[in-house]
Amino acid sequence: RRMKRLKIASLPGDGVGKEVVPAAQTVLKAVSNVHGGMQFDFTEYPWSCEYYLEHNQMMPDDALERLQDADAIFLGAVGNQKLVPDHISLWGMLIKIRREFEQVINIRPAKLLKGITSPLTNPKDFDLLVVRENSEGEYSEVGGRIFRGEDEVAIQNAIFSRRGTERAMRYAFELAAKRRKHVTSATKSNGIVHSMPFWDEVFQAVKSDYPDIESDSQHIDALAAFFVTQPQRFDVIVASNLFGDVLTDIGAAIMGSIGIAPAANINVNGKYPSMFEPVHGSAPDIVGKGIANPIGQIWTAKLMLDHFGEEELGVKLLDIIEDVTAARILTPDLGGKYATEDVTAAIVDRVHKL
Ligand code: NAI
Ligand code: MG
Repeated sequence: RRMKRLKIASLPGDGVGKEVVPAAQTVLKAVSNVHGGMQFDFTEYPWSCEYYLEHNQMMPDDALERLQDADAIFLGAVGNQKLVPDHISLWGMLIKIRREFEQVINIRPAKLLKGITSPLTNPKDFDLLVVRENSEGEYSEVGGRIFRGEDEVAIQNAIFSRRGTERAMRYAFELAAKRRKHVTSATKSNGIVHSMPFWDEVFQAVKSDYPDIESDSQHIDALAAFFVTQPQRFDVIVASNLFGDVLTDIGAAIMGSIGIAPAANINVNGKYPSMFEPVHGSAPDIVGKGIANPIGQIWTAKLMLDHFGEEELGVKLLDIIEDVTAARILTPDLGGKYATEDVTAAIVDRVHKL
C-alpha cells in the first residue's frame, strides 16, 4: 500500500486554539503511527490577533496562496477582543478563508457521548448531522437602508440559487447513504413564500435521485423544538445558512458542552482545501489554565479523517473519545477535574492500543 502523505496547514489562532490544536495533532500523529500507510505533515502558521498587533493584518497578503496547496486546513479558534475587535479578526481570517476557498458546505454532527450529562433531562441516544448551506441564503450582502428616523427602511435579501441549494441537498443525501439513510429538510414554506417553496421543489427533485433514502420536510420552528424534545428522531438534516446556524447551536447545546462540538467547512469542487475547526471560540475565560476541553478539536480531526476517506479510522477515533468520556476522564466544562493533557493522553493511549 502506498504511503499517503497529507499536508495539513495548522492554524491554532488565538486563546485555547493554541492549547487544543497541539493536543489534536498529538492524537493525529498517534493515529498515523498505528495506521502505517498515512503520514501528516503539519505546517504551522501563527496568524492570530497577536499577529495583527505586529503586522496590522490577521494574515499576510499571500496567506491564501500559502494555504492553497494544503490537503486540509486545521484551525483552532480566532478572536481576542482585548487586542482586536471581533469583526476584524473574524472577517480578516476565518470568513476570508471560508469565502475565498469556496467552502460552501458546513457540517456539524451532534451525538450524545457516554458519560456526559446533557442539559436534556431524559436524552435518548441521539446521533445527528446538520448539513448547512454555507455560502448564500439569508447571509447575503444584498440589500440596504434608506431614510432615517421614523421613515427608515432596512431591506435584507436572501439568495437561493438552484446550484447552491441542490449542492447542499446532494451532499446531505450522500452522507445519509453512509449513515442511517434518512434526510430531513428544514423548510418554512408556510411563511416564507418565495425562497422556501423553491427550496422544497429542489428537495423533491434531488430526493428522486436517491430512492434508497427516506426523507421528510419539517418547518424550522417545529424542527428546532424536536431537537430539544426528540433529537433521536434525526439522522441527516439539510438546512439553509440561517436555519443551519441556529440548529447547530442547539445541537452543540444538547451534547452537554460547546467544548466537544466539531465542525467542518467543505470545499466541494476540489479547487481549494476544506477547513476543519471546532464550534467553540478562543475561550478567553479559561485560557492558560490548561483545562480547555480538547475533544471538540479531536473530534474535528476525526471529521478530517472521514474527509480523507479514512472513515473506518474515524469511527475508531470517535469510539475512543467515547471510551474516555465513559471513563469520566473529563475537563471542568463537563464537570470533571482533569486537564487538557490528561484527556489527550487518555485518548493517545487508546489509539496506541488499536
Ligand atoms: P467561546 O466559545 O470562546 O466560549 C464560550 C464558553 O464556552 C466560555 O465559557 C468558554 O470557557 C467555554 N468553552 C469554549 N471552548 C471550550 C473548550 N474547548 N473547553 C472548555 N470550555 C470551552 O465563545 P465566546 O466567549 O463568545 O467568544 C470568545 C472569542 O472567540 C471571541 O473573540 C469570539 O469572536 C471568538 N469566537 C471564534 C469562533 C471561531 O473561531 N470559529 C467561534 C466562536 C467565537
Ligand atoms: Mg452560530
